[in-house]
Amino acid sequence: MSNSYQINSKEEYDLAYKKSIENPEAFWSDVADNFHWHKKWDQVLHWDFVSPKIEWFKGGKLNITENCLDRWVKSQPDAAAIIWEANDPNEESRTLTYKELHFKVSQFANVLKNNGARKGDRICIYMPMVPELTIAILACARIGCIHSVVFGGFSAQSISDRIQDAQCNIVITADGAFRGNKSIPLKSIIDEALITCPSVKKVIVLTRTSIPVSMLNGRDVWWEEEIKQVENKGNPECIAESMDAEDMLFILYTSGSTGKPKGVVHTCGGYMVWTNYTFVNVFQYQKSQIHFCTADIGWITGHSYIIYGPLSAGATSLMFEGIPTWPDSGRFWDIIEKHKVDILYTAPTAIRSLMGFGLDPIKEKNLSSLKILGTVGEPINEEAWHWYNENIGKKNCPIVDTWWQTETGGILISNIAGITKSKPTFATLPLPGIQPIIVDENGNELVGNNVSGNLCIKFPWPGILRTTYGDHERCRTAYFSTYKNLYFTGDGCLRDAEGDYRITGRVDDVLNVSGHRIGTAEVENAINMHSGVVESAIVGYPHDIKGQGIYAFVIFNGIHTDEAHTRKDICITVSKIIGAIAKPDKIQFVSGLPKTRSGKIMRRILRKIAEGETTNLGDTTTLLDPAVVEEIKLNRL
Ligand code: WTA
Repeated sequence: MSNSYQINSKEEYDLAYKKSIENPEAFWSDVADNFHWHKKWDQVLHWDFVSPKIEWFKGGKLNITENCLDRWVKSQPDAAAIIWEANDPNEESRTLTYKELHFKVSQFANVLKNNGARKGDRICIYMPMVPELTIAILACARIGCIHSVVFGGFSAQSISDRIQDAQCNIVITADGAFRGNKSIPLKSIIDEALITCPSVKKVIVLTRTSIPVSMLNGRDVWWEEEIKQVENKGNPECIAESMDAEDMLFILYTSGSTGKPKGVVHTCGGYMVWTNYTFVNVFQYQKSQIHFCTADIGWITGHSYIIYGPLSAGATSLMFEGIPTWPDSGRFWDIIEKHKVDILYTAPTAIRSLMGFGLDPIKEKNLSSLKILGTVGEPINEEAWHWYNENIGKKNCPIVDTWWQTETGGILISNIAGITKSKPTFATLPLPGIQPIIVDENGNELVGNNVSGNLCIKFPWPGILRTTYGDHERCRTAYFSTYKNLYFTGDGCLRDAEGDYRITGRVDDVLNVSGHRIGTAEVENAINMHSGVVESAIVGYPHDIKGQGIYAFVIFNGIHTDEAHTRKDICITVSKIIGAIAKPDKIQFVSGLPKTRSGKIMRRILRKIAEGETTNLGDTTTLLDPAVVEEIKLNRL
């Protein structure tokens, strides 16, 4: 790749950064000129953080799939767009060239149209990590439908909440999914979810595990049969819908500190420019390299760095269906050797879990193709960073520590591979266009170096969220009202003596468990659904592999003959309501919770107890019943 906006040296980074701050409109206009637009924008940027209202490339017309597919079909039709590695290493891997992917996306877009999909419709996608997932996503974008991908680990209840919130009319799923030695019955989970989703008129089902499923006449159709119908019509090309830059591209639900997950909305133009710019620069992608992002497409990392970032850059993106520890803990290393992967982008939690298996699984593996390593999703601890650097990168591969969020669309703070320095546990420097500011509790800016506080951003970048679906006020209160005229990230952060940023973790009631965002309120609500539970409080505690574990304090008045059994029951309840990812790691039964006289749970105290701190709990005099703290301390797990 050699784009005019590819940063090739520290000097170029400094220059790009300076220009992006001094004249953001000219800077992003130059970058956006490298894409295919049907019509050029009238205005580069229009914004205020009060409403908030943010518009990039307004009036511009484009289709993101033409930028991800058609332009590469012209220049490099036979280059691999996707390499897919199955869950089972004995199943053959698949490669889809740009030409093939383009064909299949166009074909499936026609299937969607035949099933009633129209521009602006919301389509829920609940699928395994197979190439058809990418095809389904791009097919939605091709015809202007808004995709809402739901991670395969979520329960029927969670899916139903998301479908109802977005009023989806079509669901794309599969009979089942393979994950390690398990298989998950996706279609039957969808069936359960749809009992409460009258808006859904069609369900398109891909065959993956070949387990028996029930198909509802008139509503459910098979992917393969629908494709045949399009083939019978001679496979007409599906013309890409002309979208406004600010039309919605997708919704992705994410947890916040209150209430149900919110539907973060990204739009076509800005998101495309941002994912592409950050992909090309942070990973220093070079033509024909193989990029392996191990995230699931059900999360933002998969959206931005398996699909849109790499494909909009004409890159080869490796998609893996399985898990890092099956059939054994050498699976990542096998894949890297087999496909000669150049760039590996994974989560600290995966690194820590693989560290636990020692060096044997790596010994005989040839990892010499690797050039760049990346991490994302949570703070990386020093030990994991060094292990990654020494044993995977062989001290030869720069590690990029990329900080960002579902709401930011793409990476905001990160070193640039091999160009700006890496520093263990530091995301280091803001990318061009990003103006971070650290504030104290009252919103006062902390200037200079050697400061720590709450991380905000003071100027929009093209990939920033535009709204939360169906509830703009929620977007305003969650991100733009804590501090005036600033986007509040919810993260704590420090800027060291050299001006480098280190993200220290969430400062709100959101946990980060194995890199997954989980709201404490959501887990509490789920636990409280158990008929024997009176009240509960959730806090995070340090966990060697997951980063944070979930500690639940539960007041139980049901009859429990056996605590272990009740704990299991509560976990089943949480799995049913949210999904297995939100199951508490520890459940302590208590007779009361530490509350203020006004009835507010003092989480600070519970957090300290969960972390193992029992002496220095801070001020407990304002508590309604200080004795309860003693009891909780005594019975700590
Ligand atoms: C955390 C994932 C430290 C952070 C892309 C953020 C990180 C949340 C890093 C967003 C990092 C992400 N270092 N913390 N490099 N990357 N985080 O929305 O707390 O799933 O707010 O997006 O993950 O999680 P989300």
